[in-house]
Amino acid sequence: MLVLGAPLDPADHHQAAAQQALEGFTRSLGKEIGRGRTVNLVRLTDASAAESTLRFLLSPKSAYVSGQVIEVGTPQEPEGAPDGDRPLTGRTALVTGAARGIGEAVAETLARDGARVVVLDVPGAEQDARRVADRLGGTALLLDITAADAGARIAEALPDGLDLLVHNAGITRDRRLVNMPAERWIPVLEVNLASVLRTTDALLKAGALRRGGRIVATASIAGLAGNAGQTNYGASKAGIVGLVRSLAPRALAEHGVTVNAVAPGFIETRMTAAVPLFIREAGRRMNSLAQGGLPVDVAETIAWLAHPGSGAVNGQVVRVCGQSLLGA
Ligand SMILES: NC(=O)c1ccc[n+]([C@@H]2O[C@H](COP(=O)([O-])OP(=O)(O)OC[C@H]3O[C@@H](n4cnc5c(N)ncnc54)[C@H](O)[C@@H]3O)[C@@H](O)[C@H]2O)c1
Repeated sequence: MLVLGAPLDPADHHQAAAQQALEGFTRSLGKEIGRGRTVNLVRLTDASAAESTLRFLLSPKSAYVSGQVIEVGTPQEPEGAPDGDRPLTGRTALVTGAARGIGEAVAETLARDGARVVVLDVPGAEQDARRVADRLGGTALLLDITAADAGARIAEALPDGLDLLVHNAGITRDRRLVNMPAERWIPVLEVNLASVLRTTDALLKAGALRRGGRIVATASIAGLAGNAGQTNYGASKAGIVGLVRSLAPRALAEHGVTVNAVAPGFIETRMTAAVPLFIREAGRRMNSLAQGGLPVDVAETIAWLAHPGSGAVNGQVVRVCGQSLLGA
């Protein structure tokens, strides 16, 4: 189900109250409706810019997206008419951490939509990265994203530039803060946040992202709601949200590139398979859909943000969590 609203008007508290009420209505209905159904709210500025968003939210591609509030603004660039089945034809996508898990599904989905994909992963994951790249007719780029020169090496590997940059690589090193040594804190902040800041800055500065491009970073509901044992991970993923909100308007104005984040909830991957059984079962069930999500659910959300018609979606953090009971 879809609820349509408008952005809150700071100069009109009656309008703002009514529009905010729609948010409470949507989130409450999401928790009532059950049976695998979803409810989302779209705040529209310009209805002509909303087609890709409405199509996504009304299709099974958004099966694990519920209770979300998504703002669709005004597109900056006139949108061409993309190929219906392969809307990303002619575009180059770089996905970090794409040798397995969510990243692999993202690469596969963007390739399905016509993009040429570059599968970036650590040298230790060479076999898997090459397997994914070969299967999708793309190329593998073996690189630790925390390397100081990672941005320069990406730009060098893609001399014609790129259109879609998906920051997906991420790690966990869980421990309660009282027992958290620097060896568990630093790598999580480095992989999940500092490298995203460094490579984004380097690629934007080098002009490597073409106009009409997209940056999508991977946050987590742990960064929005907090999670015991994950102060390092929660901090890194909350940092992604700050990056997106601050950079999005400037990147669009200066480079014609949108910047958004997805915040997955419990997604069935090797990362969540390593969680102890009791916590894993709770994580799987504690959402309005009472089940875990699949990597493809995150991948389809990224494919919607990458779509040429989604240029009016900017600075958004979209949870892919089945409306997890953790956080809003
Ligand atoms: N699985 C979930 O439930 C879940 C929930 C919320 C957020 N996320 C986020 O989604 C993203 C993908 O998660 P996943 O479950 O697929 O994880 P995963 O562990 O299955 O895969 C992560 C990939 O990133 C790669 N990687 C790690 N460090 C790297 C580095 N320094 N340079 C390049 N590549 C590196 C790994 O080799 C691996 O291929 C992560 O950012 C994660 O934090 C996952």
